Amino acid sequence: MKRIGILTSGGDAQGMNAAVRAIARAAMNAGLEAYGINYGYKGLVEGNIFEMKSMDLDGIINRGGTILYSARFPEFAEVEVQLKGIEVLKKFGIDALVVIGGDGSYHGAEKLTKHGFNSIGIPGTIDNDIPGTDFTIGFDTAVNVAVENLDRIHDTAKSHQRIFVVEVMGRGAGDIALWAGIATDADAIVIPEREYDAKAIADKLTANREQGKDYGIVVVAEGVKSAAELKAEIDQYGDFDSRAITLAHVQRGGIPTAKDRVLASRFGDYAIQLLLEGKGGLAIGIRDNKLVATDIIDTLENHKHQTDVSLLDLNDRLRF
Ligand code: ADP
Ligand code: F6P
Repeated sequence: MKRIGILTSGGDAQGMNAAVRAIARAAMNAGLEAYGINYGYKGLVEGNIFEMKSMDLDGIINRGGTILYSARFPEFAEVEVQLKGIEVLKKFGIDALVVIGGDGSYHGAEKLTKHGFNSIGIPGTIDNDIPGTDFTIGFDTAVNVAVENLDRIHDTAKSHQRIFVVEVMGRGAGDIALWAGIATDADAIVIPEREYDAKAIADKLTANREQGKDYGIVVVAEGVKSAAELKAEIDQYGDFDSRAITLAHVQRGGIPTAKDRVLASRFGDYAIQLLLEGKGGLAIGIRDNKLVATDIIDTLENHKHQTDVSLLDLNDRLRF
């Protein structure tokens, strides 16, 4: 083991740079060479690869986005393209690949592992929807961005006695909606993991008004439906002055929180320690605040991310 490749792929997430820094620095400080691969699997296949120097990693721990860029490259689902990727990695003398990304990116790393190329996945996505870990890099920052924006919306909603339906990201998981909703005293949280009832939400908002709370916030995960669609449904069952807001990609940008930086640093360092021990084909994660590494094939094929839906019941017990 001499040379490590690093790429970021799929939707970017705050803290990806902190992970790149950790992987490359831990590698360099252990006498290995770190090679950056630009534009995810696309850059891999195209050979957009360069040797990283310690100075490349200076001042990036606090930067959002990814200095290695990202790309969607559906062609990587084809076996010939994956084999081409391995050919390129070998041409550059790279012995192992560390992939920072979401569920799709993990599938790329899994395929490379199946073809015999040692690959490790580090969970980097704001959605928090990767199996094998309690938390992903970027989730904490995205939740805090959503919270800041919901707090602002709360102010104007109260001033104008309005209902705001606010759509947060989360393609298949309600984690951002749950955490952001609980942290901002949402009146309802709508997530893909549980059925919702638009009439019940509207009735609650009307009842709130009768008890003195004449405004409201409904947080919906994008994986359920758009804010505009949910607003239209709720409007059918009550007399509301309502607005629909989509927070969208603002949740993916900005300075990573300390929590995401530390998580990324722990994941990156752990990946290198495992490679130095001769291990590979792994998905890295954190469970009960302990670093874990599970077989990437088994993790993807036999496990699913479990959103903690008990948080929805918690919100129901605490709301107005
Ligand atoms: P994320 O990693 O955030 O879930 P995507 O689902 O877009 O984002 O996946 C990122 C990239 O990972 C894809 O553009 C593609 O290059 C690669 N990828 C996704 N699914 C697969 C697959 N089944 N096999 C191989 N590569 C895949
Ligand atoms: O997977 C992260 C994510 O931000 C999802 O929450 C969202 O559905 C998707 O990526 C958006 O993708 P794009 O960057 O292609 O707009």
